[in-house]
Amino acid sequence: MATWVITGANRGLGLEFTKQLLDEGHTVVAGVREPQSMPFNHETMTVIQLDVSSTESVQNFAKELRLICDSIDVLVNNAGRMDGRWQSIEDVDPELSLDVLNVNTIGPLRVSQALWPLLQGSNLTKIANISSLMGSIDDCMSGKSYAYRTSKTGLNMITKILAVEGQGENITVTSYHPGWAKTDMGGERAPVPAHDSVQGLIALIKQQVDDRTGRFFEYTGVELQW
Ligand SMILES: NC(=O)c1ccc[n+]([C@@H]2O[C@H](COP(=O)([O-])OP(=O)(O)OC[C@H]3O[C@@H](n4cnc5c(N)ncnc54)[C@H](OP(=O)(O)O)[C@@H]3O)[C@@H](O)[C@H]2O)c1
Repeated sequence: MATWVITGANRGLGLEFTKQLLDEGHTVVAGVREPQSMPFNHETMTVIQLDVSSTESVQNFAKELRLICDSIDVLVNNAGRMDGRWQSIEDVDPELSLDVLNVNTIGPLRVSQALWPLLQGSNLTKIANISSLMGSIDDCMSGKSYAYRTSKTGLNMITKILAVEGQGENITVTSYHPGWAKTDMGGERAPVPAHDSVQGLIALIKQQVDDRTGRFFEYTGVELQW
């Protein structure tokens, strides 16, 4: 059984990851902004405060994590925020856009940087970045959502850069699109149940060996264009 770190574990896809991994018998470290918002306790789950937009919080998270384990197997950079979807040029709020980029792009980089020493070692370890098809430049047909789209495009580039850095360190790094999934972010009309999205993502992350690093996949396993 493996040790997985899940960011944004208290609701949505992060909570679904946590439940399915615990059911499989894995150890989960749940990174959440408000630890009391974690809806349950479990003997193989540790909840640690984490705000991915704060360097201090991420460093404290890494410190707490090192107190309970010497290494981890998988980091799932799942925490993310929307930008008030479908904003066109006249609606863009530059300050809010900076926060979206901070959470969705620099957040996963901060956490990966802080946990990198726990991923290094002789065993193959993995970073799974939960991106979005909305970050695909090839797929940008309907426009709008400047900040969210850009934040996920940036995350995809970070995936690629980290994947290069991870070569020779036995660390694979891959981007995933969870589908339009039914969560607070995805909304009620979303066609993909959170359970199905995460079941697909977990299966893919388990297959995330060297030939899959630096690539971008949908939860179904279909490879996506950057
Ligand atoms: N649902 C979809 O259709 C869809 C599609 C494509 C991509 N995604 C991506 O999938 C990931 C999960 O989305 P979701 O649908 O589960 O969203 P969600 O239901 O809105 O949940 C977002 C999670 O991220 C956490 N979070 C937000 N800002 C954070 C911060 N600064 N530090 C730590 N945690 C933070 C939230 O914590 P709080 O409870 O504290 O706010 C919450 O746990 C996101 O990266 C999202 O962009 C989702």
